[in-house]
Amino acid sequence: MPSKILLVGGGGREDAVARKIVESGSELYSALKNRNPSIISLSRETLITDELNHQAILEFALAKGVDLAFIGPDPVLDTPLADTLLSRGIRVASPSRLAARIETSKAYMRELLSRYEIQGNLEYHEVKSVKELETLILDSTAEYAIKPTGLTGGKGVRVMGIQIDTRREAFQYAREILERDGMVLLEEKISGEEFSQMVFTDGTHMAPMPMAQDFKRAFEGDKGPNTGGMGSITDADHLLPFIDSGTRERALQIIASVINAMRSEGNEFRGIMYGQFMKTSRGPKVVEINARFADPEGINVLSISSGNFTEMLYSIADGSLRKSVSFRNSATVLKYVVPVGYGIDPRPGKLEIDKNFEGENLKIYYAAVSGTRDNVIMSSSRALAVVGIADHIWDASDTVEEGLKKIHGEYYVRHDIGTREMIQRKIRQS
Ligand code: GLY
Repeated sequence: MPSKILLVGGGGREDAVARKIVESGSELYSALKNRNPSIISLSRETLITDELNHQAILEFALAKGVDLAFIGPDPVLDTPLADTLLSRGIRVASPSRLAARIETSKAYMRELLSRYEIQGNLEYHEVKSVKELETLILDSTAEYAIKPTGLTGGKGVRVMGIQIDTRREAFQYAREILERDGMVLLEEKISGEEFSQMVFTDGTHMAPMPMAQDFKRAFEGDKGPNTGGMGSITDADHLLPFIDSGTRERALQIIASVINAMRSEGNEFRGIMYGQFMKTSRGPKVVEINARFADPEGINVLSISSGNFTEMLYSIADGSLRKSVSFRNSATVLKYVVPVGYGIDPRPGKLEIDKNFEGENLKIYYAAVSGTRDNVIMSSSRALAVVGIADHIWDASDTVEEGLKKIHGEYYVRHDIGTREMIQRKIRQS
């Protein structure tokens, strides 16, 4: 009898996960807030719910007799869902709420790295008083990344000199966070190329995925406000042309150290660990450690994965990691189709998608949309992830551009992601 897998989340990342679960021969049950036409069509049954309503999701899982659950979105990892499913005898291939603190509390992450003297940490201050803020920002020349400690959907971080022009503005923003949350994090400002490294882990062992880079800024040329991510790239050798293999090895060592540190303090992490790093002249530095697949980078890597994904999930949940998934040696480029005005003043409309859109090297994943697969209704968030697969990053970018011709309606997309000009510029600067 096929195993029954519960997937929580209704974005593009979850659409990619859903396809892998079904391809592995399992029955898919899904719990999501939007009527995602792709995930619904892949599922035996779907519960449309507030994804934070862990009680409703638990009851659905019990009623359907699911064997294993996988949680996509970070806000859901910050509910008791994983723990309650486990306590009712359902396997979970995602971290417990406590283990997810590696993402949901940036202060916990920085403290863990300090406590275990793990490489790649930054100078940081957990600021709890306005007086201290005055000293650190107004009476100093240091520049910081200003962050709330909790989840922000990628939109809460502001870096002095990038999204913030003056010290007074920096002080005001930090003070706003402090007054709301009782604490604000000031991290040393660093610069360099960012990269994402994800691994599957059972709490002890890990299996790396291809390295990726995402593009968070809304507009071409990496301008405009930060978003959840406008697109992402991976390369055929699973490195990036502007990041050397030594840097990747060091990033993987940092992730392994985090996994070991968490286990040794009784907070074992099982699931997907996703490190966001910056390559600096002092080696890779940790920007964030996340407790889930990156979105969009997770979609890139799943697009070129083969093997039995469900078996991988079981091995994570059971603490006996088996490398049952491998990745093709192809480059990928993903560009998110979003509503016009996304990130500032979104004006969502409808999109028509040509039938038979997908081919061997062109994929489309459905994100925060409803409607049907041919006629989608956008929300104010990301709508469709179009992925091109080729031997070179820029050819994959061209494949996406061909695909975009088959999507009709008003939308915005960052055409510059993965182009030859962009990649060559990054190589020159590396
Ligand atoms: N790639 C951005 C994120 O998943 O948080």
